[in-house]
Amino acid sequence: MSDSDRAGIRFRLVFSVALPALLGAAAAWGGGATPFGTQPGLNYELIAPFDCRFCHGDYDLEADIEPWNTWAGSMMANSTRDPLFWAALDVANNDVPGVGDFCLRCHSPTGWLGGRSEPPGGSVDGCGLLGNLDEAGNDFDGISCHFCHRMEVNDNPPPGEQPVYYENGSFWIDDGDCTAMSTGPCRYGPYDYGVGDVPPPHEWAFSQYLVDSDICGNCHNVTSPLLNLIDENGMDTGIPFPIERTFMEWQQSDYAGAARADGHGASSVQGCQSCHMPQASEDPAFACAFQDNDRTGDMATHQLVGGNVWIPTVLRGEYPALMRDEEYSATIAWATDMLQNRTATVEIVDSSEPTPGEDLDVTVRVTNLTGHKLPTGYPEGRRMWLHATARDAEGDLLWESGGYDFDTGDLTQDAQVKIYEIKPGIWDLNGTGECDTSDGAANPLFHFVLNNCIASDNRIPPLGFTGGSDPETAPVAYTYPETSPGSGILVSYDDTDYQIPVPADAVLPITIEARLYFQTVSKEYVEFLRDEAVTGGFPDDCIPRTTGLPGMSRGELLHDMWQRYDRSAPVDVASDFLTFQGDVLEIPALSVLGLILLGSLLAGVGLARLRRTRG
Ligand code: HEC
Ligand code: HEC
Ligand code: HEC
Ligand code: HEC
Ligand code: HEC
Repeated sequence: MSDSDRAGIRFRLVFSVALPALLGAAAAWGGGATPFGTQPGLNYELIAPFDCRFCHGDYDLEADIEPWNTWAGSMMANSTRDPLFWAALDVANNDVPGVGDFCLRCHSPTGWLGGRSEPPGGSVDGCGLLGNLDEAGNDFDGISCHFCHRMEVNDNPPPGEQPVYYENGSFWIDDGDCTAMSTGPCRYGPYDYGVGDVPPPHEWAFSQYLVDSDICGNCHNVTSPLLNLIDENGMDTGIPFPIERTFMEWQQSDYAGAARADGHGASSVQGCQSCHMPQASEDPAFACAFQDNDRTGDMATHQLVGGNVWIPTVLRGEYPALMRDEEYSATIAWATDMLQNRTATVEIVDSSEPTPGEDLDVTVRVTNLTGHKLPTGYPEGRRMWLHATARDAEGDLLWESGGYDFDTGDLTQDAQVKIYEIKPGIWDLNGTGECDTSDGAANPLFHFVLNNCIASDNRIPPLGFTGGSDPETAPVAYTYPETSPGSGILVSYDDTDYQIPVPADAVLPITIEARLYFQTVSKEYVEFLRDEAVTGGFPDDCIPRTTGLPGMSRGELLHDMWQRYDRSAPVDVASDFLTFQGDVLEIPALSVLGLILLGSLLAGVGLARLRRTRG
């Protein structure tokens, strides 16, 4: 697409005033959605993961280190099966006809590289993809083994192109012969085979690119191919709209360490792989069924989990023909562990003393332990929030904020609620002269490809974050203080001050609890998809599936799954509580022994309060 096409579409979209007009004005996608990097039509086709499984799977009894077995349940492996993706794709194609080709480049690289994501060889709604959702060895294999292990830096890019890209899946795939002797491309890996090592029975080559975060940056920065970012004054910034910025957030943190030009954070360098592909703890550890080379201490697993425990749960239940029960269960366990042990800490850092009839002031701090914003990545419907409660001596609820109803999926939006999320929107959609995130009737909107402004972003920065004034990553309508005045680095925690009314007849002691939740998808987003993801080639879904009623649109199917699988139940990430000592000291949920131990501890240091952090 040329710059003038791009500008033309932008003009039409940005200056429309009402959603119907906006949708009507959206020009059909002109093709060439992703002009950079390797284009469809490979000399050497991608080999299906089950061919790799034969040697790189099923050889370890615990099934928790082999590349295939650790990868198979992950969202990376299931990016083309994800029912949430399919529903969102329909909305996108409806908003900007044809844009689905852009989506499929990252979500089905095999289909895209095969030329099956747009006409003439395929279709932007996925109807041209080969295979079934619940089978392997086809276009639904997601981000596959051979795909990643053929990604490379192109040292001699064609004129006008770059050796490496850091957004929009503009990957380079090695399509030549590995050596003069071979008939196929290299499989790039972390190992160099020297004297004493047994080399693989296939082409191989060591690749620094593969072990660096750069390879992930190719897809983990998603940028609008259509629209520019409009700032809070309604001015076009000239910056393509940043949809997801996980890689950039990481680059602006201490975890990128030495890679950073400004010299901060050289002490803590942790790439995407070190957190998302943790080392196998086995000794000995083998990378292949042949078990020739002992890789103890140098064997990254392909866990690739983030916060998503819900979609793997849905896939495990809905697609038994895939026979990946064990793999999905492993992914769910790793993701839960990641959320509960490596994501955040919650701490009640300050409070006044409770006096019946007066307000109690409590400050709760949430600290981000991840390598990017918390939460990061996909913006729509993803959120974390604090559930805070105050209970009296009887355990009766005196006050709460951020209450969630597990039966309905409703999160109570009380005056003090703290929800961590980014809210992209459409500038001046309702004639407000602002970044609008809902239609005129206050219904929330989720138009991924039409968004051109950020109404708010209060997600917690990572350690050493320098993006505080970068329009692509800065907090919006929210402030994080600098670590020290003028440092240019934002703190990696957020403090919430609650005013808790203590009734005049409250029975002391009072217990305050704060609990952080993570949710993959909100009720509002699922209901929006149910209502909106109904056109663009559907209701008769072209992708053969064994679940859901015939004739269901992809939005209705997702909503149906949401109802049947616990409404994307939030995961309890971390919590803290504080019991104020009153006339009688009562500590619920502690054993007698615990009481005695705590009692002696209290006596020893003369504490007025009692607290404990739970995971
Ligand atoms: C997201 C891209 C990606 C996908 C998909 C992927 N790998 Fe890897 N693989 C990597 C990276 C990165 C490393 C090196 C990690 C490190 O050492 O830090 C690696 C390492 C390996 C290794 C060396 C031993 C080890 O496990 O560290 C083998 C063998 C391997 N991969 C095979 C596979 C197979 C087989 C599949 C499919 C089942 C697969 N990979 C899928 C990125 C990928
Ligand atoms: C016939 C068995 C076999 C098959 C099939 C196989 N591999 Fe391998 N592969 C091996 C062996 C053996 C090693 C060496 C393992 C080691 O070094 O510990 C290896 C190593 C690798 C490495 C590491 C290379 C390096 O330099 O670090 C990668 C990457 C890899 N394989 C990818 C794949 C992919 C992708 C597939 C499927 C397209 C695949 N393999 C299929 C046997 C196989
Ligand atoms: C070809 C594009 C591509 C590349 C390269 C890529 N990813 Fe992904 N990744 C995706 C897509 C697409 C998804 C989301 C799939 C979904 O949820 O439907 C994803 C999902 C993930 C998730 C799971 C997120 C969650 O919500 O649980 C993690 C973690 C992740 N990727 C890490 C990595 C790491 C680490 C690398 C580099 C080694 C990498 N990715 C490289 C496309 C890519
Ligand atoms: C210091 C460890 C660490 C580093 C470094 C790190 N991550 Fe994460 N990441 C996490 C943790 C913990 C989570 C789970 C919490 C969450 O879901 O946000 C996570 C979540 C994610 C998710 C899911 C999105 C979400 O918020 O649910 C994606 C995608 C992801 N990471 C990709 C990356 C990529 C790409 C990189 C490198 C640019 C990276 N991560 C670097 C720890 C890390
Ligand atoms: C540059 C690569 C890229 C492109 C292009 C892309 N995505 Fe994604 N998508 C990702 C990555 C990476 C993730 C995972 C991020 C995370 O989990 O935080 C993701 C996650 C998602 C999710 C969330 C899935 C889940 O289970 O949580 C949906 C829905 C989605 N994408 C839809 C789309 C649609 C629709 C388009 C086209 C308009 C699109 N994506 C284009 C890379 C891409």
